[in-house]
Amino acid sequence: MHPAHVDALAHDLAAAGLTGEGVRALVGEHAEAALGRMVAEPARRAARRAATPLATLVRAFVLGDAVGAAELADALPSLGVDGAVALGVAERRDGAVAPLVAIRPLAYRDARGSGEWWIASDLDELAGVSPLRPDHVLGVGGAARTLAALLPPASGGTALDLGTGCGVIALHLRRFADRVVATDISERALWFTALNARLNGVDGIETRLGSLFEPVAGERFDLIASNPPFVITPRAEGVPAYEYRDGGATGDALMAAVVGGIEAHLAPGGVARLLGNWETIGADAGLDRTRAWIGDGLDAWAIERESLDPVRYAELWLRDGGTLPRDPGHDALLDAWLDDFEARGVSAVGMGWLALRRPATGERMALARFERVPHALALEHVGAHLAESFDAAAWLAALDDAALADAHLITAPDVTEARHQLPGAAGPNVIELRQGGALGRTLSVDTALAALVGASDGELSVGVLVGAIAGLLEVDEHILAADLLPRVRELVLTGLLLRA
Ligand SMILES: C[S@@+](CC[C@H](N)C(=O)[O-])C[C@H]1O[C@@H](n2cnc3c(N)ncnc32)[C@H](O)[C@@H]1O
Repeated sequence: MHPAHVDALAHDLAAAGLTGEGVRALVGEHAEAALGRMVAEPARRAARRAATPLATLVRAFVLGDAVGAAELADALPSLGVDGAVALGVAERRDGAVAPLVAIRPLAYRDARGSGEWWIASDLDELAGVSPLRPDHVLGVGGAARTLAALLPPASGGTALDLGTGCGVIALHLRRFADRVVATDISERALWFTALNARLNGVDGIETRLGSLFEPVAGERFDLIASNPPFVITPRAEGVPAYEYRDGGATGDALMAAVVGGIEAHLAPGGVARLLGNWETIGADAGLDRTRAWIGDGLDAWAIERESLDPVRYAELWLRDGGTLPRDPGHDALLDAWLDDFEARGVSAVGMGWLALRRPATGERMALARFERVPHALALEHVGAHLAESFDAAAWLAALDDAALADAHLITAPDVTEARHQLPGAAGPNVIELRQGGALGRTLSVDTALAALVGASDGELSVGVLVGAIAGLLEVDEHILAADLLPRVRELVLTGLLLRA
C-alpha cells in the first residue's frame, strides 16, 4: 500500500464531503435509516439522481456499485482511477470501475470527544454480496459498536486489539492508549487496519499477523480488547468457516483460549474487555464455565446479555452468513449445527461481555461477579461504569463492615425512586430504585434501604443513617445494620451509591 495513494484518497473523500452528514443530506433521512437495516435501494435512487462527486463516491464505496470511469475520476481528482486500482480499492471491469472495498463514514463519541472516521472493509450484504466470502473482513457492526462502548475511558499505556479485523477497535483504543498493537490471522484484515489508520491520519497502531497471543508472546498490555471470532460452528463437511467470526475451534474452545491467555498478557493494574459466547454443557452453565477460563488471578465481571437455545443460535448465524430458510442447503447446515450441539450436550449458548482486571502489585482480589443482565440498556454509559465499578470493588474489598459504616455515601444523580401501591393501600407495596445510566438496573428495595438511599447526601455516615432508620422503624440497630450493609455494598458496586 502506497501511503501517498491513501493520503490522496483521504483528501478526495474529504473534498467530496463523504461524511455521515453528507450522506444524510444526499440520500435523505429515510434512505439513510434504511442503510442501517441493510436496505440499499432508497439510497441508490437518491444517489443516482445527483450527479456530484459525493453521489459517485456513495454509489461506489457505500453501496458497492460499479460507476463510470469518468465520473470516478471526477470524484477522485487527487487519487485518480489508476491510483484507486493501484491501491486495491477498485478495479476496471467491463468499461466501468467496480469498487473492491466499502468505505463508509463512522461517527464516534467517547470521553475525549466526538468525531468521524472513514472505515474501509470488505463489500458486504449492503453491497449485494451474499453469501460472504470465507475471508471476508467485517465492517463496523453491532458487536464492534458494543465493544467500543465497553472500553474504559483511561489514558496512556499500551493496548492490544486481538482479532482486529478492519481495525475499528484499534482506532478507538488509540484515542486513549499511547501505542496499540492490532493482531489478526488475516493478512487482508491487517491490510484494512493499516489502510484505515492512514486514511484517518492515526499513527501508533502496529499491525501483527498471527493466531491468538502468538504475535505478542511475552508482552504485557495495560488494556486488552477483543471481539474474538467466537461464533460456535460445526466442524463438518460443507459448513463454511468464516474467518471473521469463527476461529476454527470446536464449540467455544477458541473463546476459552482467548480468555485463558489474558492474565499472562495484562500488566499489573491492566484491564481487558471482551465480547464472547459460552456454551451450557450438561449441568455446566455457560457463565460458570467462563469463571474457569478466567482463572484465579484476575478480578472478573461476566455479564450475560442473552442466552439462545441451540436452534435459535444456529438460525442467527446462518442468517448472518447470508443463508436464509428458503435457500438450498439451509436445512443441511441447520442439521450440522444441531448435530454438533447434540454431540457435546449443549443446551444453550450465552452471549455477553467480560470485563477483567489484573490487580496492581500489592492489591488484593476484589471482584468475581457472574450475572445475567438481559434488559435493554443505553451502551453509552457502560465503559465508564465498568471502570468505576472495578475501582469501587477495590475500595469495598479493603473495608470491613465497621469501616463501611463510617463511610459517607451519596446517591448517584441518575437514580430515581418509583413507589407502587395497590388502590386504597396505606403505603407502597413495591419500592423500586431505577438507574438512568450505568447498566440501567431496577431494584426492588424495602423501606429501610429506600430510606438509606434517600438520605445519602454525603452529610451523615452510613452507620449514623442506619441508626436513625432503626429508630424510626423501631427495630434493632445491629440487626438492621447486618441486613443493610451487604446491600449497601451491592449498591456501591453497581453505581447507585457513590463515595462522597
Ligand atoms: C469478529 S471479528 C472482529 C473484528 C473487529 N475487531 C471488530 O470488532 O469488528 C474477529 C477477527 O478475529 C480474527 N481471527 C480469527 N481467528 C483468529 C485467531 N486465531 N487469532 C487472531 N485473530 C483471529 C478474524 O480474522 C477477524 O478479523
